[in-house]
Amino acid sequence: MLDQLENLGAAARTELNQLTNGSTLDAWNSKYIGRKGEITQMLRRVSELPKEERPAFGKRANELRQELEAEFAEKEAVIKAAELEQAMAAGALDVSLPGRPVARGRLHPSTQTLRRIYAIWAEMGFQVYRSRDVETDEMNFQLLNFPPHHPAREMQDTFYTTNPDVLLRTHTSPGQVRVMRQYHPEPIRVILPGMCYRHEQITARSEIQFHQVEGLAVGKGIRFSDLKGTLINFTNRLYGQGRPVRFRASHFPFTEPSAEMDVQCFLCDGKGCRICKYTGWLEILGCGMVHPTVLRNGGYDPSIYSGFAFGMGPERITMLRHGIEDIRYFWGNDLRFLEQF
Ligand code: PHE
Repeated sequence: MLDQLENLGAAARTELNQLTNGSTLDAWNSKYIGRKGEITQMLRRVSELPKEERPAFGKRANELRQELEAEFAEKEAVIKAAELEQAMAAGALDVSLPGRPVARGRLHPSTQTLRRIYAIWAEMGFQVYRSRDVETDEMNFQLLNFPPHHPAREMQDTFYTTNPDVLLRTHTSPGQVRVMRQYHPEPIRVILPGMCYRHEQITARSEIQFHQVEGLAVGKGIRFSDLKGTLINFTNRLYGQGRPVRFRASHFPFTEPSAEMDVQCFLCDGKGCRICKYTGWLEILGCGMVHPTVLRNGGYDPSIYSGFAFGMGPERITMLRHGIEDIRYFWGNDLRFLEQF
């Protein structure tokens, strides 16, 4: 059995010499010198030997295990060092190369425009009022003086919920009534920004969702000249001092009189170009004096109080400013578009 032991030792050494990587090292270790390895197994058979041979055999087996353990440790160190060197060479990095810039997120172009609008109106004393996206038919239409068969009420324009009295607001104007009901009879100066929804064919010019910023001023003695002066002040701040503007008569059910405001095209200075469709003017918002019925619906007596309101589209403002020709880019989540702002 001593011969068997020596043969085992020789075989183990030959195999150990042939090992080249870390995973075969482990296998060798458990095969020969591990707790269930071959040396342990031979030691278990010591009882087969005559009594007087047992101590010598046991001694030699333990010696052999120690020798192999030492040789194993040496081999392991050599292989691990080689593997480390290889890994370092493979992952070599040139510390003198310039660093790669980390991509930074940025604000959505609509958010940038919205924040500019908030800042300008804040300077002019208007607070932000957040109204709700999900509205009632009453708030979105009835209390704003929409006659029952107004075309904007039809199914193709409005997203209704399963409850026909509950819908996604089609404009921010219902917020006017909510502000008035909350604050009457205090004077009001607010803007109401938010997302609006319309059940429309999505095209380059129309989306099913878009922002509006509504404005509302209510108090005693507010006149149309206040509306004009305030909006001219705003456009001067947004588009630069002295840019010509004009008001055109228009119609909204909830304002009387109503107007649309144009600003001279800042891309061609009024000479006429593709963006202003060769008119020299860009339409930027709708506005008017709050209709007496709407004031009354908000809790203000129209014989004492008056007010003005306006509504503008930040996407449209952003499109004009940057010459963006397709509104679908805004919610298309295409980084090539978003990274330009
Ligand atoms: N709500 C109108 C629209 O969606 C805009 C508007 C707001 C007009 C306030 C007048 C006063 O087009």
